[in-house]
Amino acid sequence: MSVVLELNKVVKRFGGITAVNELSFNVNKGESLALLGPNGAGKTTIFSLIMGEHRQTSGSIKLRGEEISKLGTHKRINNGISRTYQVPRPFNELNVLENIRVGMMPDSIMDMIWKKSDEKLEKKLADNVGFSSKEYYRTPSELSMGDLRKLELARTLATNPEIMLLDEVFAGLTVGEIEHMSQLLHEKRKEGMTFVIVSHDLRSLEPLVDRAVAMTFGHQIAEGSFIDVMADEEVRASYLGE
Ligand SMILES: Nc1ncnc2c1ncn2[C@@H]1O[C@H](COP(=O)(O)OP(=O)(O)OP(=O)(O)O)[C@@H](O)[C@H]1O
Ligand SMILES: [Mg+2]
Repeated sequence: MSVVLELNKVVKRFGGITAVNELSFNVNKGESLALLGPNGAGKTTIFSLIMGEHRQTSGSIKLRGEEISKLGTHKRINNGISRTYQVPRPFNELNVLENIRVGMMPDSIMDMIWKKSDEKLEKKLADNVGFSSKEYYRTPSELSMGDLRKLELARTLATNPEIMLLDEVFAGLTVGEIEHMSQLLHEKRKEGMTFVIVSHDLRSLEPLVDRAVAMTFGHQIAEGSFIDVMADEEVRASYLGE
């Protein structure tokens, strides 16, 4: 098993708050890792650090053995890492296909103007996450939360990632939408995608992951199989309030 992403003693302080505290874990190629923890544990901050949207205070983040801590977000995206956001972030004035187009051109918004759009590919990505052709030209205000999360996924897939960091993929979805999202993620796993998934919906998360890392107050408290991590006393105390 080859390690594709490696965090070593990563620390992130925001003023007086230590959001991430000497956190270390590896992600293997092709695996799906659950990142668990109560509200405020530091899960989203970890994703922001991996993407370079925030810089860590100390520690190292390596991609395929190379330190990436000094690289900007666009370089990291071009190197195959991508994320979705806990609160979907579409461009509200753009339709589904146009939002996907922005995902395909992460280098600069100017690319939108200069590069020729590839509507065939945009439609393929939209179809891939389950949009029907009549939804191609809808704007975000006309979409359900399930559709917005599908759009997040399509925009992320548009960057042709090798690793996807998914933040609360199931939050706000109906039972049917959760089933659809799970199915999509299962398909991507079969195609060999590497995932780190954050979700409070443990029942939907469990069948999707090979392994779990649990954290609280920025530091790791358990790592192992999903079942073992969920059975861990400290995890139960901090996460499930037991
Ligand atoms: N930009 C920021 N500025 C200051 N503090 C921040 C910032 N981002 C996060 N924090 C703080 O860092 C800690 C970790 O937050 P983070 O959002 O990473 O947690 P989380 O595990 O994703 O929580 P949730 O499950 O609620 O999404 C919290 O105490 C939060 O208030
Ligand atoms: Mg979060």
